[in-house]
Amino acid sequence: MKHKILFLCLGNICRSPAAEGVMRSLVEREGLRDIIEIDSAGTYGGHRGDLPDARMRNAAARRGYNLTHRARLLREEDFDEFDMIIVMDDMNYEAAHRISPSRKHSERIFRMRDFFSERFADYSYVPDPYYEGVDGFELVLDMLEDGCAGLLETLKQESR
Ligand code: 4NP
Repeated sequence: MKHKILFLCLGNICRSPAAEGVMRSLVEREGLRDIIEIDSAGTYGGHRGDLPDARMRNAAARRGYNLTHRARLLREEDFDEFDMIIVMDDMNYEAAHRISPSRKHSERIFRMRDFFSERFADYSYVPDPYYEGVDGFELVLDMLEDGCAGLLETLKQESR
């Protein structure tokens, strides 16, 4: 079974392109590139066409992730194309529901925190690092590495 996953945040220049990079790296390491497709989008179009924020690109590069995504807006068609839309926070969750074409399609919306291990059990969302210092980006990457590993396990179990 093929999986198509879309990570969603606000600007599509910090959290969701980083999630895309982390997940792509995990998927390639496990040789699952033909089975799991990954993309990311945002609900605010102000950075459309931009590369990820330089602070996020630098923090990700230090961990071996090369982020080359160009920011784009979430579209209604994404709800047909992707079988999971994974949001970073409550604002993205509500925005995704507003854009979703039907209640059935809304069943494809998940929260990143649903895939966290015990390590991040106290967090109900992935905090927006845009206005934070370097620590914010490191925390986001720690959370995304944890959540993407959990997501991959879930997908593998579904495929069994
Ligand atoms: P992201 O971070 O949602 O993780 O990409 C943000 C980037 C830009 C803005 C907000 C959040 N902004 O308001 O420009």
